[in-house]
Amino acid sequence: MRYEIGPGEVHCWTFRPAQFAVNELAVVLSMDERKRANRFVFDRDRNEFVVCRGILRHLLALYAGMAPSDLQFEYSARGKPALAPNSDARIQFNVAHSRGAGVIGVTCAAPVGVDIERMDGFARVSALVPTCFAPEEQAEFASLPQRVQPRAFYAGWTRKEAFIKATGEGLSRPLHSFAVTIAPDACPRLLRCNSDPASAAAWTMADLGDHGFAAAVAVPAPASIRARNLYPQFLGLKQA
Ligand SMILES: CC(C)(COP(=O)(O)OP(=O)(O)OC[C@H]1O[C@@H](n2cnc3c(N)ncnc32)[C@H](O)[C@@H]1OP(=O)(O)O)[C@@H](O)C(=O)NCCC(=O)NCCS
Repeated sequence: MRYEIGPGEVHCWTFRPAQFAVNELAVVLSMDERKRANRFVFDRDRNEFVVCRGILRHLLALYAGMAPSDLQFEYSARGKPALAPNSDARIQFNVAHSRGAGVIGVTCAAPVGVDIERMDGFARVSALVPTCFAPEEQAEFASLPQRVQPRAFYAGWTRKEAFIKATGEGLSRPLHSFAVTIAPDACPRLLRCNSDPASAAAWTMADLGDHGFAAAVAVPAPASIRARNLYPQFLGLKQA
């Protein structure tokens, strides 16, 4: 079966790594990926990496019409993975995982970025607001009722991180050099982008999270976002 993706579509797949069997996924990893997995100190981190990379391979294999273990990745200078030219390089993707949940964005439209965060540490991370949020984001955050602020923090965080993952810059990009909408119920949008002010309006952003997780996707183009949950059965795998 080959899974089709329409022009301008972004398919966003959210999943729970615990539903997948580590051993069944480990066998499709490359030698480099196995070496990387073995460098993790904690089993929990190793298993999450193996499961997410294994799911990524199985999912992209459906789009590329290839076997999961035949796919080859290459990496940008800042570490963003992409499919190598011999593995259907027109397919663009991005992955995020956060202690019990993961998300993969797939598209042919433009570079894509995704992020997911477990919303359980606001008391611990709220001090990061001035560092992570640009002045207009801080103002929007401060204007929200206190009960909404934890969700707003994670909405803003995931929208911003999806943006810096779409560009591939990661944290090398100053977080005050662009601004997104912060309120959880606001339409997710890129409001300002210092490096390319005219392009801000062209970006598409969407929220994807639920059940204790915030998640977001960003692409630098008009796009139609299709969000679905991914279960082992869809990939022909057994339930853990
Ligand atoms: C890699 C990075 C972009 C995200 O890391 P993270 O939050 O720890 O992890 P995520 O789960 O979101 O993403 C990890 C995945 O992103 C991908 N990735 C790695 N480098 C990337 C880059 N430069 N751009 C886009 N994606 C990248 C990889 O597929 C990686 O998965 P892997 O571990 O299976 O290889 C990190 O360099 C970074 O900049 N993090 C920002 C954290 C932060 O403080 N954000 C504040 C937002 S307000």
